Amino acid sequence: MPEIRIESLRKAYGDHSIIEGLDLTMADGEFTVLVGPSGCGKSTTLRMIAGLETCSGGAILIDGRDVTRLEPKERDLAMVFQDYALYPHMNVAKNMSFALRLARYPSAEIERRVRDVAATLDLTPYLDRKPAELSGGQRQRVAMGRALVRDAGTFLFDEPLSNLDAKLRGSMRAELALMSRRIRKNMIYVTHDQVEAMTLGDRIVVMRHGKIMQAGSPEELYRRPANRFVAGFIGSPTMNFLKADLVGEEDRVAVVGQGFRFLLSPERSKSLHASLGRAVDLGVRPSAFEPSEGADALQLPVVLSEYLGAQSVIISELGGARIAIEVNASGPIPIGGTRGFKVAEESLYLFDSKTETSL
Ligand SMILES: Nc1ncnc2c1ncn2[C@@H]1O[C@H](COP(=O)(O)OP(=O)(O)OP(=O)(O)O)[C@@H](O)[C@H]1O
Ligand SMILES: [Mg+2]
Repeated sequence: MPEIRIESLRKAYGDHSIIEGLDLTMADGEFTVLVGPSGCGKSTTLRMIAGLETCSGGAILIDGRDVTRLEPKERDLAMVFQDYALYPHMNVAKNMSFALRLARYPSAEIERRVRDVAATLDLTPYLDRKPAELSGGQRQRVAMGRALVRDAGTFLFDEPLSNLDAKLRGSMRAELALMSRRIRKNMIYVTHDQVEAMTLGDRIVVMRHGKIMQAGSPEELYRRPANRFVAGFIGSPTMNFLKADLVGEEDRVAVVGQGFRFLLSPERSKSLHASLGRAVDLGVRPSAFEPSEGADALQLPVVLSEYLGAQSVIISELGGARIAIEVNASGPIPIGGTRGFKVAEESLYLFDSKTETSL
């Protein structure tokens, strides 16, 4: 299985730059997810890797071989598009074998591959059916099967689950994770959904405006976001951000804002001394608030409460901003009044307000 390396990849339409110098290495057998908001250049990057779009600069290497100028069919890739239109007049087996028949594979070989892939995707009972006789999820699996029979070294997916309803998305996501574990091929998967990215990726590449904001394992991105953008993008409900200042208090540093003051430990203070006096954004995840009766607890108003069953999300206010607080409670939380909360020091994320980088 191949390693894929992208070096200083660029794309511009006229003088409008879309991708600005992308560097990325995808290891052998890795499931890489490109994630980011609409228009950040995910599909463009994937299409350049596939060879469906020309590159304005840089190089794409597959297993050390420069494929930047090669035709799609010379790259040993198979792609599943968002809009996967199956051939309506062909049954599942014929849909899946289309590319192989076009490439004049021997019929015994075609039959074997279709049978194997259909078994992997639980499609064996449906091989004789037409697409109109299948559910959305089954059709989606046929589209994947069509790519898998080609037995390519790398599979590229562009938002393959985006036109399914929420429940089907969830079950297809699990099936995809199982399938990728079984076939162990390189997968590059594009989505704007951070939950899909977190649950499927060995490695997640967060993009914004044609640039990589951070690449790492799901846990790295969640625990140690490199900047405010990644912190706000990964995790649900979204991280809360509060305006604050770093203030020296004897030999320690305090994060001080409207209605709150967190005195940091000597170790963390030491690493922040150079940033004293700087305006920061304090990031706190909704799940980091712990109920507290202590005298130093933050007293936060319950402006609104969203009951989700096992949890509730309290909408509150702190530092002049609206914040979300996730609480485990057995029943709905009444609106009005205040509740006491504390936040552990390791759950306080600090970002430079100007550069947005993590401090
Ligand atoms: N042929 C084109 N000519 C000019 N600009 C283009 C062209 N194709 C794409 N773009 C622009 O390139 C940018 C990136 O597009 P791309 O399709 O890669 O985004 P994306 O991250 O896949 O977004 P989405 O999540 O909405 O699919 C967008 O701003 C888009 O308008
Ligand atoms: Mg796209």
